[in-house]
Amino acid sequence: MNIIVVKNYEEASQKAFEIIKSLVIEKPDANLGLATGSTPIRLYELMCEDHRVNKTSYKDVNTFNLDEYYGLKHDHPQSYYHFMHEHLFKHIDIKKENVHIPIGEGHIEEDCKRYNQLLSNNKRDIQLLGLGSNGHIGFNEPGTSFDTSTHYIALKESTIKDNAALFFNGDLDAVPKSAITMGIHNIMESKHILLIACGKRKAEAVKGMIEGEVTEELPASILQRHPHVTVIIDEEAASLLT
Ligand code: F6R
Repeated sequence: MNIIVVKNYEEASQKAFEIIKSLVIEKPDANLGLATGSTPIRLYELMCEDHRVNKTSYKDVNTFNLDEYYGLKHDHPQSYYHFMHEHLFKHIDIKKENVHIPIGEGHIEEDCKRYNQLLSNNKRDIQLLGLGSNGHIGFNEPGTSFDTSTHYIALKESTIKDNAALFFNGDLDAVPKSAITMGIHNIMESKHILLIACGKRKAEAVKGMIEGEVTEELPASILQRHPHVTVIIDEEAASLLT
């Protein structure tokens, strides 16, 4: 693991931006695995700004999102589909047909199969990850098998609470209780994994991920077994590391 400790969220976002930008310049048809949540918001802003100012193009890039809440239609303001369009896609020149996000409604089994097929036909050059305060990556909650591919999952209470606070004005009832997520197996197929974690509330999960044993109880710990991982953390998230 290449671990980069930076001062704060802004520096973490800048570092991640440099990595994504150089990949897209070097490989204009790169496959990008993307994440939602609060962590990548500044990174996406930087990508949009850079596209506007420097014309970095995404017209041949394909994107594959990690997950989607179950039960929210695409146009729901809290769906990850909506999130991605608002924070990134509508501001850059990506083609609509090159954007891939799991479908969070309808025929779960068929959709998971279809998404898995898509992922195995399109290996990601980079997979961006945030980190759950309970150690989840994607929505692979503690206890999920490392062998899973795209699947339906019930969210843990801690995840529902975190997401309520960040995106649903603290309203626990409004947060969907399940999601469709890429599995750990899909995530590990990416050539390069780029994880960003900032803030005190991530410190324990960061410590487990980097210094703990590899265990399904802390899904992110599997990243210790991937040959090319870059972890960007701020000082607060790094505060428990020895
Ligand atoms: C989002 C995702 C989640 C988040 C994680 C951290 O697509 O897969 O694993 O990355 O819950 O969320 P934030 O960034 O809001 O702390």
